[in-house]
Amino acid sequence: MTGPHTAPKIFEAFDHSSDPALRARHFGEWDRLREVEGSFGSSLNPDRTVWFLLRYADIHTALQDYELFSSSSVIPFTDEAHHWIPEEIDPPEHNKYRRILNPAFSPQVVAGMEGAIRVACADLIDGLTGAAGCDVIADFSRQFPTRIFMRIMGLPVERADELLEMVHNLMHTNPTDDPDGAIRGGAMMAIYGLLTEIFHSRRAAPHDDLMTTLVQAEVDGRPLSDDELRETGFLLYMAGLDTVAGAIGYVIKHLAENPDQQRAVRERPASIPAVVEEALRMYSIVTTSRVVTRDVEFAGCPMKAGDRIVVPTASANRDPAAFEDATTFDADRTVNRHIAFGAGPHRCLGSHLARAELRIALEEWHARVPRYRLDPDATITEHIGGVAGLDSLRVTWG
Ligand code: HEM
Repeated sequence: MTGPHTAPKIFEAFDHSSDPALRARHFGEWDRLREVEGSFGSSLNPDRTVWFLLRYADIHTALQDYELFSSSSVIPFTDEAHHWIPEEIDPPEHNKYRRILNPAFSPQVVAGMEGAIRVACADLIDGLTGAAGCDVIADFSRQFPTRIFMRIMGLPVERADELLEMVHNLMHTNPTDDPDGAIRGGAMMAIYGLLTEIFHSRRAAPHDDLMTTLVQAEVDGRPLSDDELRETGFLLYMAGLDTVAGAIGYVIKHLAENPDQQRAVRERPASIPAVVEEALRMYSIVTTSRVVTRDVEFAGCPMKAGDRIVVPTASANRDPAAFEDATTFDADRTVNRHIAFGAGPHRCLGSHLARAELRIALEEWHARVPRYRLDPDATITEHIGGVAGLDSLRVTWG
């Protein structure tokens, strides 16, 4: 990819998850940064530059070039001691793990789950319509994917609230509120503990669930080690819960703010799959990262081996060089080649499940709740890190 002719700027201490402008204007701020900078660096870490790539073409290329940009760590600013499977493994090893997981998330398997997903979704929404409104995030968008995911994994559904709290502490504790990492570290250990407990029980007594598939799976002719099982379970856990919750929050907020589009969804449920695709594009939630493996100039940035790149899919998918009227929500787009689910070997394992959950969420929501709008007295705040989302979204009926 060719970059700008001027050298990219280096910002001191820029971290997207705590940057005030991004926290205030999120998607609009990615748009501004892409237009003004194209790509830039952060010198927050003394030992590496973290390069932010913001154009669709650069991000798409980088995600596919796993030799130049390794997944050995997808956390750009800290050196966390984990080895998430399959996310932090490069090809060809990556495929050995990915092939174990692919069958459980195939289009056929997801289609077979449609009825159960719909029942879980409808039950949750029916519990909300008696009041004058709800917090879409706390009452619905976090609860719904958690219940489905626990079912697939074989985790105890009665412990859903405990699991949600662990995820919340892990994913949404701001580093400034947890300087020594005690809250996040504690949550990670609690999740590892729960997963280990379940893996041991599945070894002793197999069930028809993904945890059992994992304990019975083999790589290079041997079973997965306890560490590998934990790293796989943990990654699935993070990837499967927070993402769908975040995406539901953004699309419901958009429809609450755009009554004409809300009415169209209600009157024409057949339009919902296209609305889902457009919401995935306009409000992409994942910002991932890679390790630069050799000195190179890429997107105009003079990268050194060991530097990191950060690639916000939100910035890629709102790039006017790749999408006409990129910042307009247009569910009638004939072409929508967004990369909300990533690109290359690590493209989302759960995209079929995510699409089904989002579609069913919008179908059941609009079949069951009356007209809704944002609660004028509520303040909306967001978290922006590896996975973005709204902290709360109060809506009222009517
Ligand atoms: C709207 C919902 C979702 C979005 C936008 C999303 C997005 C993404 C993206 C962008 C990646 C690539 C990350 C990278 O390249 O570093 C990814 C990977 C992944 N996603 Fe999703 N995801 C969603 C839902 C799910 C669900 C429901 C699951 C189910 C467990 C899931 C499981 C995974 C896994 C396991 C990976 C790693 C794949 C690999 O490394 O081979 N995701 N997802």
